[in-house]
Amino acid sequence: MITFSGVYKYYNEIPVLQGISFHIDKGELAFITGPSGAGKTTLLKLIFGSEVADEGEIKVGDFELSRIKNSEIPRLRRFVTFVFQDFRLRQDLTVFDNVALPLRILGEKEKEIKLKVMDVLRDVALRHKVDSLVRTLSGGEQQKIAIARAVVTNPQIILADEPTGNLDPEASQEIINLFKKINTRGCTVLIATHDPTLFQSSSYRVLKLKDGKISQ
Ligand SMILES: Nc1ncnc2c1ncn2[C@@H]1O[C@H](COP(=O)(O)OP(=O)(O)OP(=O)(O)O)[C@@H](O)[C@H]1O
Ligand SMILES: [Mg+2]
Repeated sequence: MITFSGVYKYYNEIPVLQGISFHIDKGELAFITGPSGAGKTTLLKLIFGSEVADEGEIKVGDFELSRIKNSEIPRLRRFVTFVFQDFRLRQDLTVFDNVALPLRILGEKEKEIKLKVMDVLRDVALRHKVDSLVRTLSGGEQQKIAIARAVVTNPQIILADEPTGNLDPEASQEIINLFKKINTRGCTVLIATHDPTLFQSSSYRVLKLKDGKISQ
């Protein structure tokens, strides 16, 4: 599903990723960990296609990212979604309008949109907040809405950047359980985190990034 072969990424001639190779199967849930500045976010952005590798090959589904055409980007954005560390929600819109946004961009009918949004809000247990403005929600609730928005289009891959960054242990576990639920439906999930408690007592694969390299 995701294959890196000898991937290098530099910023201002400073190497961040130095010859990274790994493979993630369809339907896997895996974690990327490593200290601050190790390149976790960079690695996710490369998969999302919002950053481009300087050397090496990245294959995501049937997309060869080093050769991707601009005209293919919309299809890639349906295939892979990204839950950003800062959520990037529209604070002055309602929960409904935030989650509906990607479906409206895809031109779906309002009736379909309503069904899909209510379905995904049930999954994150926030149906009762459907008409609330996002800015009135707690951090954990906003995180769940960001995840709901990322899954509402039914992507094949979800990338999540520090999805428990500002949450207490209980709320963090809830978020991880939510990703597990999404994963059991067949979605491939990749979570970047510096918090080892998220995966310590699990059997999920952990890719450790250090000094630009991966040790598994
Ligand atoms: N757009 C950019 N321009 C220049 N340098 C960048 C850019 N993006 C990232 N970097 C640098 O690349 C390195 C890796 O950054 P990245 O954000 O991928 O790390 P990270 O592992 O996600 O860290 P954190 O745990 O703090 O989120 C850092 O040294 C960072 O300063
Ligand atoms: Mg980061």
